[in-house]
Amino acid sequence: MSNHIVWHQSTIGKEERQGKNKHKSVILWFTGLSGSGKSTLANAVDHLLFERNVNSYVLDGDNIRHGLNKGLGFSDEDRKENIRRIGEVSKLFVDAGVITSTAFISPFREDRDNVRGLVESGEFIEVYVKCSLEKCEERDPKGLYKKARAGEIPDFTGISSPYEEPISPEITIETDVLSIEEAANRVVQYLKENGIIQ
Ligand code: PPS
Repeated sequence: MSNHIVWHQSTIGKEERQGKNKHKSVILWFTGLSGSGKSTLANAVDHLLFERNVNSYVLDGDNIRHGLNKGLGFSDEDRKENIRRIGEVSKLFVDAGVITSTAFISPFREDRDNVRGLVESGEFIEVYVKCSLEKCEERDPKGLYKKARAGEIPDFTGISSPYEEPISPEITIETDVLSIEEAANRVVQYLKENGIIQ
């Protein structure tokens, strides 16, 4: 990085934005296997928050890989860079006063913990979207597991690339037990109980 770049402090602070919005801003970091329901759940939470006039937004793995992270693949290094960039973007959204839901497999604990370290304590809420590999494979909404099993997709999470489960996530949602509606309400309940939204 050039030595001639100086950080410019915004003249409107995060707290001022949060005060105007009447809610805090945090990262809801949804992590889990492909097909576990991350995007569906993140979007369901986003809808509930939108109805409550909360400033919220979803950053989704598939979508971000079409633009910002186009060019990154699924090697360990590329996944790491994918998550690093999303972490930085999420931090900017938190500064902007937005409750930011991210839906990325984010298979490596270290990478998720690095994002946690980017923001203040309590601003990173890890949501483990827990679903067995068997169930995800049975759902196979995009037909990717079938291709991975046939050797057509290398480094596929759960098949030929690891997924490191969260050790102490703030929220665990078992999507093969709860309905999406129940699961989304549980996340919103957490936000209320922890004084993030009213
Ligand atoms: S990661 O690991 O966090 O960088 O992955 P992410 O950016 O969330 O992208 C996951 C989506 O990419 C599709 N896909 C793959 N997933 C896992 N492994 C491999 N090799 C792969 N190739 C493509 C897949 O549709 C994932 O979407 P979700 O929504 O998780 O099912």
